[in-house]
Amino acid sequence: MEAVETRRDSIKSLLRPLVRRTLSPSAVHALRFRWWYLSSYSPRLVASRVVKRTPEVRGFGMAPASGLAKQLQSVNMFAPTKMCRVMTRLGSDKGRANNYTPVYSALFSERYNQPVRIFELGLGTNNPDAPSSMGVFGMPGASLRGWRDLFPHGRVYGADIDRGILFQEDRIKTFYCDQLDRSSIRELWAQPDLQGGMDIIIEDGLHTLEANICFLEESLDQLRPGGIYITEDIGWKHFDEWYERLERIYSKQYPKYEFAFVVLANPGWINLLVVRRNAN
Ligand SMILES: C[S@@+](CC[C@H](N)C(=O)[O-])C[C@H]1O[C@@H](n2cnc3c(N)ncnc32)[C@H](O)[C@@H]1O
Repeated sequence: MEAVETRRDSIKSLLRPLVRRTLSPSAVHALRFRWWYLSSYSPRLVASRVVKRTPEVRGFGMAPASGLAKQLQSVNMFAPTKMCRVMTRLGSDKGRANNYTPVYSALFSERYNQPVRIFELGLGTNNPDAPSSMGVFGMPGASLRGWRDLFPHGRVYGADIDRGILFQEDRIKTFYCDQLDRSSIRELWAQPDLQGGMDIIIEDGLHTLEANICFLEESLDQLRPGGIYITEDIGWKHFDEWYERLERIYSKQYPKYEFAFVVLANPGWINLLVVRRNAN
């Protein structure tokens, strides 16, 4: 399998510059999706009947064990899901590039038909000079549209520091927020549309430790009972700081929440913090 992946990567690196120079962003996306579907999604769908890759998970928290860490430990990261397909088709990096979708599918798929409220920080700017940019081929709002498709009765909200990419569509509304500024986060949560809390909050913004902490501390109260909060793209360099913070501070400060740290890349930046609020 690894030899196939290496050969696939070298073909991709030869073709990529040529494709990008000659095609429009949407044509690049369509091509990229087809390539991924044939070379990765379909073979993995078959192989995952026998191949299993599970993440390393550490649980924290004083909430009565809801089994969050155990549930995440049993996720097969090798097995693609409907969410992987939907997110990749729309141009989000949650499936194809980062492979967070097997984890999210395990957490959210039972709720697909419920009227959930989902919020995502970070829309995916394609301004190459902006911090945490997706690059010129980025598709702002891709993941929000993915949530809308996956949750046909859901309401989807988002926010970003880049005012130029804010938008409003059927069942999607977005707002300005600078996650490094606590008053900006409080203003965000004071918006009339955002009253009533969220069932799912995903933080996919600036990806610095300071920004992660700032948004988490100002947003955990917004979770509805049973709700899930996720911080994406945590770097391995910050593991120890997170472990200490979760052990010494958050597990005591938030007794109604259970925390699970999911290591997918060590070394690497594709790691998650998952927080679940007790159901009552
Ligand atoms: C990785 S992209 C988000 C990708 C998107 N969530 C998706 O799945 O397609 C990160 C986003 O964070 C935004 N960002 C950067 N700094 C920020 C800040 N201080 N506050 C809020 N958003 C910020 C960027 O403008 C960018 O759109």
